[in-house]
Amino acid sequence: MNESDIYVGLDIGTTSIKAIVAQTIDGQTNVIGVGNEPSAGVSRGIIVDIEKAAQAIRKTLDQAETKSGVEISSVVVGLPADLISIDRCSGMISLQDQANEIDNQDIMEVARTAISSNLPQEREVVNLIPEEFKIDDFDGIADPRGMVGSRLELVGRVITGPKTIIHNVRKAVTQAGVTIDQLVVGAEAEGKTILSDSEQDFGTILLDLGGGQSTAAVIHDNELKYIDVDHEGGQYITKDISSVLNTSLKDAESIKREYGIADAQAAVADNEFPVEVVGQSQPQKVNEKLLAEIIEARLDQILGRLKDKLTAANALGMPGGIVLTGGVASMPKLAELAANTFGMNVRVYIPDKMGLRHPSFALGLALVNYATGLSDVDQVIRTVFSVDAPLPSQADQATEQPATDQYQAPAPAEEEEGGLSLFSRRKQPKEPKQRKKNGFNFSFKNFFE
Ligand SMILES: Nc1ncnc2c1ncn2[C@@H]1O[C@H](COP(=O)(O)OP(=O)(O)OP(=O)(O)O)[C@@H](O)[C@H]1O
Ligand SMILES: [Mg+2]
Repeated sequence: MNESDIYVGLDIGTTSIKAIVAQTIDGQTNVIGVGNEPSAGVSRGIIVDIEKAAQAIRKTLDQAETKSGVEISSVVVGLPADLISIDRCSGMISLQDQANEIDNQDIMEVARTAISSNLPQEREVVNLIPEEFKIDDFDGIADPRGMVGSRLELVGRVITGPKTIIHNVRKAVTQAGVTIDQLVVGAEAEGKTILSDSEQDFGTILLDLGGGQSTAAVIHDNELKYIDVDHEGGQYITKDISSVLNTSLKDAESIKREYGIADAQAAVADNEFPVEVVGQSQPQKVNEKLLAEIIEARLDQILGRLKDKLTAANALGMPGGIVLTGGVASMPKLAELAANTFGMNVRVYIPDKMGLRHPSFALGLALVNYATGLSDVDQVIRTVFSVDAPLPSQADQATEQPATDQYQAPAPAEEEEGGLSLFSRRKQPKEPKQRKKNGFNFSFKNFFE
């Protein structure tokens, strides 16, 4: 088996770690093995104990290796949405010899100029997405290689993340004995796999409802335009069930999965089930409606906060509606509850691959698809911010801040006065873009121009 044809998507989740092993033959990607083990050292999507996380990752990779019969040497890893920024950027280089055709080196150089300035010390580049290249006065060029000119310009978006979080991901994965092919913001990969072409084009909200966090992303004009995270997820629903019904977390989790319904209105009070209650010798009967009320109360809070963030970002009302995924999305009637909360069309995404038919696997699969779908130019650009950079020395690490689970989601972006919805803005005639060379000087609201 040719190793270059193997891609492994690694999703380091709060509740479980998933590894999807896929083989690409003639452009066709087939999943050949899956690892799925309980997580450790991860809180609300962030690695807070590198050693424990590394062990859990290793266990997952061992399982994936056994299932696929492939020795895994490198992985494509998903990054949490915490403190991720998406900023406009541009860079320009002069081409020395106008007779020489533009090549990979020129692409790398112009990409470097686009990301090199104004990058705060505590942030690291995760991706640079070119929107267009310009050669002299010609714009709208997707791949300038093989062309000639005197000036090459790149206009795009740079995605950056906090070094601390990224460092811990990189270190835990490396400690698990594999190298990193690529670090990808989870929602960026998910958008490409989960959403149809028109959903990505016209604009859709993607909600990944995981165990320890819930992520909202807006994909519009085929790009990730907005991302934010709420630090609660399915684990909180389980905790609520456990404390209200006075039952163990383990029992609460299985009750949730077996009898849980997201929308209390759809639950039937006559449907009862037994619950082992702490301090009682006999199981107690609990009805479906009470359980649904507990679940809905927590979901209302999570969805409500996400709605507030999306509203503040002027990102509601996407024509593509809302797509739900992540483990919590397997809860019956969640789509109905979300449709009520947001007043938008909602569908649930479940991967349609044997052995992966659960929304928990959405990210792992998306990471594989993302890596196999990168264009040549994207791949060249990615070499500029190598994710496998050497780890800092022990001395450097001593001064480093450990990641904690205290990260606050970034403050919602300012709402633009009298702002239009993303969709209607898209239809506005484009004003000349004010661009500051090589900079990160664009406020968030400019994305929606
Ligand atoms: N059938 C189900 N009904 C309700 N909840 C479910 C069901 N199946 C899984 N879940 C919940 O989904 C959550 C796990 O989802 P997922 O695997 O997407 O999270 P994760 O990736 O580990 O965590 P995160 O993305 O928050 O870091 C758990 O809270 C689990 O209880
Ligand atoms: Mg997850």
